[in-house]
Amino acid sequence: MRWEKCVIFDLDGTLTQSEEGIWNCVRYTAEKMGYPVPDAATLRKFIGPPLTYSFREFMGMEGEEVDRAVRTYRERYQVTGLFENRVFPGIRRLLRMLKRQGCWIGIATGKPQEPSERIVEYFGLKKYIDAVAGPLGFHSEEKEDLIRRALPEEYGEAWMVGDRKFDIEGGRKVGISTLGVGFGYGSEEELRQAGCTAYAATVQDAIDILCPGQENPQGAFLSIEGLDGSGKSTQIRLITDAMERYGFEVVHSREPGGCKVSEKIREVLLDKDNVGMTDITEALLYAAARAQHVREVIRPAVNAGKVLLCDRFVDSSVAYQGGGRQLGVERVLAINAPAVDGTLPMATIYLDIDHETSLKRRSAASELDRMEMEADSFHARTEAAYRELIARDPQRFIVVDATRTPEEIGKAVAEQVLARLMEAEE
Ligand code: TMP
Repeated sequence: MRWEKCVIFDLDGTLTQSEEGIWNCVRYTAEKMGYPVPDAATLRKFIGPPLTYSFREFMGMEGEEVDRAVRTYRERYQVTGLFENRVFPGIRRLLRMLKRQGCWIGIATGKPQEPSERIVEYFGLKKYIDAVAGPLGFHSEEKEDLIRRALPEEYGEAWMVGDRKFDIEGGRKVGISTLGVGFGYGSEEELRQAGCTAYAATVQDAIDILCPGQENPQGAFLSIEGLDGSGKSTQIRLITDAMERYGFEVVHSREPGGCKVSEKIREVLLDKDNVGMTDITEALLYAAARAQHVREVIRPAVNAGKVLLCDRFVDSSVAYQGGGRQLGVERVLAINAPAVDGTLPMATIYLDIDHETSLKRRSAASELDRMEMEADSFHARTEAAYRELIARDPQRFIVVDATRTPEEIGKAVAEQVLARLMEAEE
C-alpha cells in the first residue's frame, strides 16, 4: 500500500521532554563509575545523540568503559528513568490531526526500540503510531537507517521532524523533507545549518506546517465540584500537572467568573454587604455569569482542541441554589438551560467531603465570603443535592474520597481523568 503522506518523528526533544529521566540516569552512571557528575550544560548535550557518542565525547570515556557506562545507564533507565518524561503540550493534538488526514506516523529514535515502545504505550500514543524504529541491539544505529525503518515501503510526501541536527541530516540522506523544531534541545541555528526544509519554533507552528488549513479537533470540558473546603485548588494543580505530562493543553477557568463580565458578577454574588439578595436573584446572577462564560471562554477553548478544566459549573447552582436555598433542582436547571445551552462537562470530578468536614475546614479559614458564611444546615442541603445529582448521572461523575492526603486524591483523580480523556480522543 502506498501512503500519500508520512511524518516520522524523533522521540526525545520532539514528542517528549525527557531530560529528567536522562539526566538522573547520567548522574547515576557517573556516581556508580566514579566519574565527576557532569554539570548542567554537559548534561543537556546528552539528549539526542547516541549514548556511546555522549559518554565518549562529553565524559572522556574510552573502549570497554563506554559499554559499561551504557549498561549502567540502562539499569536505571529501564525501571525508573523511562517514565520521568513528559509529552510536549499540543503533541497529542498534532498527532490527532495527522491521523485524521490519513497520515502514516512513525518514530525514528536513537533510544533503543523496546523502551521507546514502552514510552509510546505508557502515554497512550500507540493508537497514533504506525511504526517505532529504535536501535535493536546493544549498539547504536545511523539515524538515516532508523528513518528508513520507520517509513512504509511506498510513500509520497514524507517528513522527518526533529530537534537536533542528527534528525535533519538523517532525513536529508533519506531524501525526504525535514522540519526542525525549536521546542526541544537543539537551537534554530543548529537546525538551519543542518539544512532543514522548514523550522517550527512551537508545536503550533509545527501544526501549521504539517496540517495547513485543518480545523482543530474538539478538546474536552471538565469540571470540578465539591463543598467549600473540599480542596479543589490543590487538586486542580495536581490534575493539571498530570494532564500536561501526557501532552494535553490545559486551560483553567472558574465559576462564577472566568471572564470580565462574569468576574464582575462574582464580586456582587460573594460580597458580604449584599445581605438582602433574594434567592431567585442569586440563582439568576449565577446563571447570567455562566451564560457569558460558556460563550466567551468554554466553547472557544474546547473548539481549539484544549482541555478546559472549570472550577465549578452548573452542578454548583443545582446544589447550592437548588438544594441549599431550596429553590428545587428542576427550577434551577430550567433557569440555567439558556445559559448552558447544551454545553456540559464530559466528566465532573466530585471531591467528596461531608458538610461536617466542610464546616471544620471553613472554620479554619481566615475570611469567609457570603456563601461560606451560611449556616451548616444550608451546607447539609447542598451536600444532599450533590448526592442526588451524582445518583442521577453516575457516568459523568468521578467521585473521590477527599479526606485522604492530597497526593492520594490527586493520583486517584488523575488516573480516571486521563483514561476518560484518552477514550474521548478516538
Ligand atoms: P468558590 O469559593 O469555589 O470559588 O465558589 C464560590 C461560591 O459560590 C461557593 O460557595 C459556591 C457558590 N456557588 C453557587 O452557589 N452557585 C454556583 O452556581 C456557583 C458556580 C458557585
